[in-house]
Amino acid sequence: MADKKTFYITTPIYYPSGNMTIGHTYTTVAADTMTRFKKMQGYDTYFLTGTDEHGQKIEKKAAEAGVTPIQYVDKIVAETKELWKLMNIEYDDFIRTSEERHTKIVQKIFRKFYEQGDIYKAEYEGMYCTPCESFWTPTQLVEKDGEKVCPDCGRPCQPMKEESYFFRMSKYQDWMIDYIETHPDFIQPAKRANEMLNNFLKPGLQDLCVSRTSVKWGIPVDFDEKHTVYVWIDALSNYITALGYGTDHDELFKKYWPADVHLVGKEIVRFHTIYWPIMLHALGLPLPKQVFGHGWLLFGADRMSKSKGNVVYPQPIVARYGVDSLRYYLMREMPFGADGNYTNESFLNRMNADLANDLGNLVSRTVAMIEKYFGGVTPEWTGAVDEALDTPLREHCAALPALVSEQMDKLQFSQALAEIWKVIGECNKYIDQTQPWVLGKDPEKKDRLANVLLTLAECVRFVAVLIQPFMPSTPARIFEQLGVQDEALKAWDSLSAFGQLPAGIKVCKGDALFPRIDVKKELEALSGKEEKKEEKNTPQPEKKEQKPEKKEKKKVEIPEGCIGFDDFEKIKLRVARVITCERVEKSEKLLKFRLSLGDEERTVLSGIAKFHNANGWKKAKSC
Ligand code: ME8
Ligand code: MG
Repeated sequence: MADKKTFYITTPIYYPSGNMTIGHTYTTVAADTMTRFKKMQGYDTYFLTGTDEHGQKIEKKAAEAGVTPIQYVDKIVAETKELWKLMNIEYDDFIRTSEERHTKIVQKIFRKFYEQGDIYKAEYEGMYCTPCESFWTPTQLVEKDGEKVCPDCGRPCQPMKEESYFFRMSKYQDWMIDYIETHPDFIQPAKRANEMLNNFLKPGLQDLCVSRTSVKWGIPVDFDEKHTVYVWIDALSNYITALGYGTDHDELFKKYWPADVHLVGKEIVRFHTIYWPIMLHALGLPLPKQVFGHGWLLFGADRMSKSKGNVVYPQPIVARYGVDSLRYYLMREMPFGADGNYTNESFLNRMNADLANDLGNLVSRTVAMIEKYFGGVTPEWTGAVDEALDTPLREHCAALPALVSEQMDKLQFSQALAEIWKVIGECNKYIDQTQPWVLGKDPEKKDRLANVLLTLAECVRFVAVLIQPFMPSTPARIFEQLGVQDEALKAWDSLSAFGQLPAGIKVCKGDALFPRIDVKKELEALSGKEEKKEEKNTPQPEKKEQKPEKKEKKKVEIPEGCIGFDDFEKIKLRVARVITCERVEKSEKLLKFRLSLGDEERTVLSGIAKFHNANGWKKAKSC
């Protein structure tokens, strides 16, 4: 059997200085989603995450807590692993930089650099930012209120003198510039490549300080024990030490290196696209194929940070709404690469609109109609096809795997989900157009009805397969309702052609996939919860799976095609001015309006051509 293609993906290794936030969760969910997607497509995947445990910050935190650094990080690591379990993260390995498998190899790498002349010892004089543990050159400092401050955190820096080892980054500057310029896919999004070239490489790359004498909680330089390895050589090496690089057991390294993609937040793109490639080059190793610098989840106008105290933790959200809702939101809300605001309100609104309404309703309507009209058993596909209605939907659905795959290859999670939700939207429209409840009244239309419902059920199956990487537990609930038990029908390969759903399987209506929520009430509940949590100051993981606490209240039966009072209440009526109006070509029913709502303009199609004269509207506008 031919070897499967490999796919190696990593997250940054996070600082266990405090508990992981929704920001760390964001990158980790993205890596997990990508891994699951590639695995579904048949790749041999490897997903690495972990923790970056050394340094002054941790030393200080541990001292404050009255424990040793290792005791301090052990606790946070245990909680981090619990969180990833809760989030349904399936990593292959979790590397801790305090582990011997890492420290031994970092010492070996450091020595090699020294022996081949890439590292030299010198006196370091510079400005130092204690909270960030960063040295800055005078040109890197920024001016604030007449004072020179740290470009990262904006706090004052102190002059500092220390004997240190330095990595001769400057020697590789031209090679690095050339590499970035000739490998346009290496840094993504592309605009970050320009930032690297213009802000760091072209002005002249500084040598990098790679050891400290004042930090005890670090990996000792084995040939000069008063030094410990400083931050980036230690941290970045994790991507290869975890694979057994430099040991007798380097099978994983041989199999998976170079990484297909390092996912990182945009603030550490510089380290991953300049220092790390130079280190690898100096080791004679190939570079990762891609570094993707994603945007920040903001909270208000600020990046979430523990020191600013505006942190959101995932546990209370998951306890209340289930893990899939949060995973969906994180992957859907903002394009990967751009910043976005986290708000409870946008989360709740997406749950209602995308999950309860669009997806939830489609599944429940489809299953309910198969129960009502076919005794709960899928009928045979029939020849009763309405070309105009069925063909576009079927073709769109058949093309969906390729559309999703194209977006996923660019790590555009949000676009991939948008493609899936376009088909969901089209299905809901198809129900309104085909009006199965009308077909159901006419025994002669039974064949047509069979085809309509099968088309819908097959679309639902496609959707369930494709959302598996994003929402690992929801598809099982959809398959259960659809009566799909055959594993082959849940796999990527089963999407190679439309129309695989067999006749004679028993559907089974279940609970609503995502009960609709009362946004106002939930907002109150969430803010109450957050206050309580801040008082305690430690997130309390509540490991309740899936089922939201609230049950939808029993509803009155609403005829298909109609909306109930609950939905009617949600309609927002707005007055608009018609700017232009024209007939839609080849349509008897449709008029196309351009509307002004005062602060925005919208284009709307409306099936009222029979009742209104488009020219009349135009005239109305001109007078
Ligand atoms: O930087 N929005 O660790 P770290 C988006 N140890 N992503 C966020 C985020 C937010 N608000 N908050 C955190 C380090 N992240 C180093 C990395 S790698 C060799 C060493 C994610 O604990 C994002 O991926 O500060 C970001 O880059 C990372 O967590 C920073 O984690
Ligand atoms: Mg950071």
